[in-house]
Amino acid sequence: MTIIRLTDDDRKIQQEAISELREYYGSVALKKGSTPTFEVLTYGCQLNEADSEKLSGMLLSMGLVPKPENGPAADVVVLNTCSVRENAEDRLFGNLGPYKSAKQTNRDMMIVICGCMMKVAENVDRIRRSYPYVDLVFDPQQLYNFPVLLRDAIRKDKQLINIGSVDYIAEDDFYDIDRKRRFRALVPIMYGCNNFCTYCIVPYARGRERSRKFDSIIDELRTIADMGIKEVMLLGQNVNSYGKGNEDGKTFADVFEAACSIEGLNRVRFMSSHPKDLSKRVIDIMRDCPKAEKHLHLAMQSGSDRLLMKMNRPYTIKEFYDIADYFREQVPESSLTTDIIVGFPGETEEDFQDTLRAVEYLKFDSAFTFQYSKRPGTPAASYEDQIPQDVVTERFGRLLEIQNGLAYRSNQSKVGHSYEILIEGQSRQQPGIFTGRTMSNHLVNFTIPEDICSQNTGDDFEGRLAMVRIDSARPYSVDGAFERFTDV
Ligand code: SAM
Ligand code: SF4
Ligand code: F3S
Repeated sequence: MTIIRLTDDDRKIQQEAISELREYYGSVALKKGSTPTFEVLTYGCQLNEADSEKLSGMLLSMGLVPKPENGPAADVVVLNTCSVRENAEDRLFGNLGPYKSAKQTNRDMMIVICGCMMKVAENVDRIRRSYPYVDLVFDPQQLYNFPVLLRDAIRKDKQLINIGSVDYIAEDDFYDIDRKRRFRALVPIMYGCNNFCTYCIVPYARGRERSRKFDSIIDELRTIADMGIKEVMLLGQNVNSYGKGNEDGKTFADVFEAACSIEGLNRVRFMSSHPKDLSKRVIDIMRDCPKAEKHLHLAMQSGSDRLLMKMNRPYTIKEFYDIADYFREQVPESSLTTDIIVGFPGETEEDFQDTLRAVEYLKFDSAFTFQYSKRPGTPAASYEDQIPQDVVTERFGRLLEIQNGLAYRSNQSKVGHSYEILIEGQSRQQPGIFTGRTMSNHLVNFTIPEDICSQNTGDDFEGRLAMVRIDSARPYSVDGAFERFTDV
């Protein structure tokens, strides 16, 4: 697989396509009597969310505006897909139908599908065969090429499918990023994954590991701080592999430490790291830097050494305990969260008991628990010892019950204390209830007194820091009351 770092010349080509599309959508606006609209629908993880912010940014540069909430179907609809589990794929095909009739009433409408699912040949074939009204299909590696591909698809007026075999590295200045949140900026620092866990589609979908330039990341973080965004999330499938292949010798710990020293930023998070190569230095930075968030997400996947080996996760559960113990010793008042898969091929009741034992020992503050999903093309999909669904469902229920109890206990330990919260926004269902997170990533729902609220719109609080006293706990969050803003 070839890896190519994009240059200013590549950027120029995209800018030319954006200018042409601006002109084209200007003429569409005259015909329609209103500005053309776009909608980007995102499935999957934060890396996809980050890609969607880039897609939105490009569409804004082309002169389109976001589709109003209850308005008619957008003129450009982009579905940014995820392939990690079968249900994510089903959701895409389930959601495509209505666009067919929308397209019949709006001949200029463009339906675009991109993201990880498009790296799976069966999905692309299915679109080719059964969804002729989809105009453009491309894979995640060609995100940078979206303007050229959209222009070509419009010119061609027939389905355009462009799946490449090159892994590109684009720095942030390649894009006009439409950052969706005022409280947190997503910053991919590397792309792809080389780990090839035997159940996982991501290395096939996202290509080989490749890292952005250190200086470019730091420039992006400074720009984010200047925008007044208080939190950054450094993203990669395995951030601890950052820097391999770059010449400057910088590691993830260097990026993390440098991020924590940027003036204007208050919180630095990262997602995800792999237990096999999380360095103690990263944990020490979490201990020593006030801006480093006190939250470690470390996917365990299973508590059975036998299954970990079969999953191609090269660590033992004892090694996992050692990292977790070191983290909790060094970074008190923190949270440790994880991912666990239930029903991996060959999982015996004994293996599952190992997982339950590990969960009880480690007392994760929260966990994403998944039922194993067979991903065509991955090694595990061809294992013969697949676990019957009823067994998976039963085990999953047992795990969830234990983990929910532990998460509730973690939340209960917060009651009676006050914490600084970064406010994420107001609940849509319950206006007047705000949500935010502690430094340890605990989710907090809280009220703000009437007199403060009446002088502001709810949106004014997004991205602000406040002390909140925690009054009660729920399984997935805590409830509290506002004390004072801390960022004035
Ligand atoms: N790179 C991250 C890591 O290793 O920590 C994980 C990223 S992956 C998108 C998120 C989680 O999805 C994984 O940790 C795993 O638990 C889950 N996952 C991946 N493939 C899966 C599959 N085939 N079935 C069920 N869960 C899966
Ligand atoms: Fe998938 Fe494993 Fe890579 Fe994570 S480290 S993205 S689970 S292959
Ligand atoms: Fe899904 Fe791709 Fe992320 S498969 S979880 S969107 S890397």
